[in-house]
Amino acid sequence: MLNRGFGWFEGFKVSGMEVKLILAVVLLVAATATADYVRPAPRENLQFLWKPRAASYPQQVHISLAGDKHMRITWITDDASSPSIVEYGTSSGEYIYVAQGESTSYSYLFYSSGKIHHTVIGPLEDSTVYFYRCGGQGPEFKLKTPPSQFPITFSVAGDLGQTGWTTSTLDHINQCIYDIHLLPGDLSYADYRQHLWDTFGELVQPLSSARPWMVTEGNHEKESIPLFIEGFTSYNARWKMPFKESGSSSNLYYSFEVAGVHVIMLGSYADYDEYSDQYIWLKTDLLKVDRQRTPWLLVSFHVPWYNSNKAHQGEGDDMKASMEKLLYAAGVDIVLAGHVHAYERSKRVYGGKPDSCGAVHITIGDGGNREGLAQRYYKPAPEWSVFREASFGHGELRIVNSTHAFWSWHRNDDDEAVRSDHVWITSLVSSGCLNEKIHGFRKILMEP
Ligand SMILES: [Fe+2]
Repeated sequence: MLNRGFGWFEGFKVSGMEVKLILAVVLLVAATATADYVRPAPRENLQFLWKPRAASYPQQVHISLAGDKHMRITWITDDASSPSIVEYGTSSGEYIYVAQGESTSYSYLFYSSGKIHHTVIGPLEDSTVYFYRCGGQGPEFKLKTPPSQFPITFSVAGDLGQTGWTTSTLDHINQCIYDIHLLPGDLSYADYRQHLWDTFGELVQPLSSARPWMVTEGNHEKESIPLFIEGFTSYNARWKMPFKESGSSSNLYYSFEVAGVHVIMLGSYADYDEYSDQYIWLKTDLLKVDRQRTPWLLVSFHVPWYNSNKAHQGEGDDMKASMEKLLYAAGVDIVLAGHVHAYERSKRVYGGKPDSCGAVHITIGDGGNREGLAQRYYKPAPEWSVFREASFGHGELRIVNSTHAFWSWHRNDDDEAVRSDHVWITSLVSSGCLNEKIHGFRKILMEP
């Protein structure tokens, strides 16, 4: 009877105890299949083969916003006499404009960089494809300028590195339709080995030559050697951001505006106390924000202020203690951080507690670096934490209009991008928070 009750057992003689055992195994397998996804191991650093190229061949091309309607084109040549010119136009092969730029280079112990060219082009039309060539020769590149109004899409991934997982993340970013990439620190993981800055530049070129990459510094960019090498020497030479254009005196913090969004890139590794240049600049920058023109206010920096992962616990506390009140007073909508190699999204939060007028904090230090994932969390999750997971991946922030934005996080499920977290975010402009706070905001920011 027993065997007839389980058709697939017919022909076998099994005892009641054996059936219970088999059922237990089946249930265990089913339960395991639906349990939390188990992340594969970190992947090795990629190997880059040396390619023979002319010394004047443009390498490591990347672009970044450089003030209203302008773009900075950066590339490197081995040839120190190669000119810092960019030819460009809206038809392939027809370069009706030419811009002259500047160049720099640096030495780092026994390493000497190539010639690093920075050339600003523009004024450029919005939402327009431009074709360009660097140094008067070599291949043609293609970029698209951001739109002048909503919608606009940012892709986001920090702590990239250059491993097999980085490749996976870059592939997924490449598949999404985005206007600007935001990178909240830790780019190449060169960590003193300067040639890794060069391989990183080559790795990201297909993406970074096509859309502006706006970055801020992480701890892996520091590379200082006391008495010999100043911190951020390589980073500042290679990844020049629009700090002068935004009134900042340091490449480690700056801001830019695009299509109704004011974005502030802060420096976790620049001084941030209330007497520091960064703090004073931040106050000035926040006072310039016009929420009629830019209803959305985003901030990005490396070390998260809200982090329930055991990795890097408390490292952002001092900066938070100094600056959170400014961001709250100004009505910052979203804060994007990296550093912790995992993903976490908060409710709107301020002072450690959920607050409907605070910022949504997102940690997205999961680009694919060689150090692997931060898998240990404090339990239970704090009240402010909505979603947390230790997987590699990237985020997409589509700001649809002045009131609504759609945030999604896509983990690298093996090598396929799977949307694992998503949420509609309503702007503080539309919530009434700014009206209530506007008096206090001006008072705090105008204080000497
Ligand atoms: Fe970091």
